Amino acid sequence: PSVDSPPIETKLGSFDLDDPVLPAWVEEAAFRSGGYPYDKSMKSDKYEEELTALQIELVKLQHHVIEKGLKVVMLFEGRDAAGKGGAIFALRQYLNPRNARDVALPKPSDTERGQWYFQRYIEQLPTAGEIVTFDRSWYNRAGVETVMGFCTPDERKVFLSQAPLLEAGLIDAGTILFKFWLDIGQEMQLKRFHERRHNPLKIWKLSPMDYAALGKWKDYSKARDSMLESTHTDKSPWIIALANDKRRARLNIIRYVLSKIDYPGRDKNVVREPDPLILGAGPRFLK
Ligand code: ADP
Ligand code: AMP
Ligand code: MLT
Repeated sequence: PSVDSPPIETKLGSFDLDDPVLPAWVEEAAFRSGGYPYDKSMKSDKYEEELTALQIELVKLQHHVIEKGLKVVMLFEGRDAAGKGGAIFALRQYLNPRNARDVALPKPSDTERGQWYFQRYIEQLPTAGEIVTFDRSWYNRAGVETVMGFCTPDERKVFLSQAPLLEAGLIDAGTILFKFWLDIGQEMQLKRFHERRHNPLKIWKLSPMDYAALGKWKDYSKARDSMLESTHTDKSPWIIALANDKRRARLNIIRYVLSKIDYPGRDKNVVREPDPLILGAGPRFLK
């Protein structure tokens, strides 16, 4: 990626991604940014312990999905650096990859651009017995494409009216669909971009789109809000996970999935209700 970006102005201060020193005001505000309800990340031992117990439940769930021929889609959306990839990793870690695919499509080719927008995503939907995760999804049109001008306002409008119809059709025909929105605060995003920029093990994660997103926080907020308003339905709700703490976000997303599909052998001590401070349904949860 290109590695020169001009400083941006935010409410709390001016931020220069290329400066190797993370400003103290970013560090201080990051965890609580966007109204996050906890002061610090949960402890790693507790996280690992809870995660392993939940992953054992996911293994049982997958067995049930295969045996009954269920079709499951879990799509993950959120701003750049929200933690979509890590959440998907935790979910899939001990699943049999033969029946659990992850889909992360690149930007559309010329051929794909000539097709109906949903077409290339539809090709990736599960067959009986499969769990398919989407690291970004058809909702690209309502997010990055809208904000970066990769689609026209009309295309966005058509998308927002068609997405609920497509999803209702899928669900009526027997697919189980989960839509997760991972929400982070602005200073947390800056902190994660900074880490990507200056840690040689993470620089691969920093894309030109991340650079471009730096100065577009508000545009993304607007796009998110109207997307949630138009596409949160009773049949196909958005589940919002506050994700400044990646650990709590991952555990609660997995709990939600486990609570929504009935499978034999559920350990009730492990599969507790998600934390209502972290996980909620629809745009009102963010207000
Ligand atoms: P990620 O955050 O998933 O690692 P990027 O930050 O590089 O990936 O890009 C964000 C999303 O924007 C990706 O889904 C990518 O396909 C999409 N995207 C990038 N450029 C274009 C484009 N010209 N038209 C449509 N979508 C694009
Ligand atoms: P993160 O940078 O924390 O968002 O995590 C992104 C990547 O970290 C994933 O794609 C995985 O490669 C790895 N990862 C995430 N969670 C775990 C975990 N629980 N154990 C080991 N590696 C992980
Ligand atoms: C994430 O961390 O949310 C994604 O996996 C990567 C990105 O969008 O920057």
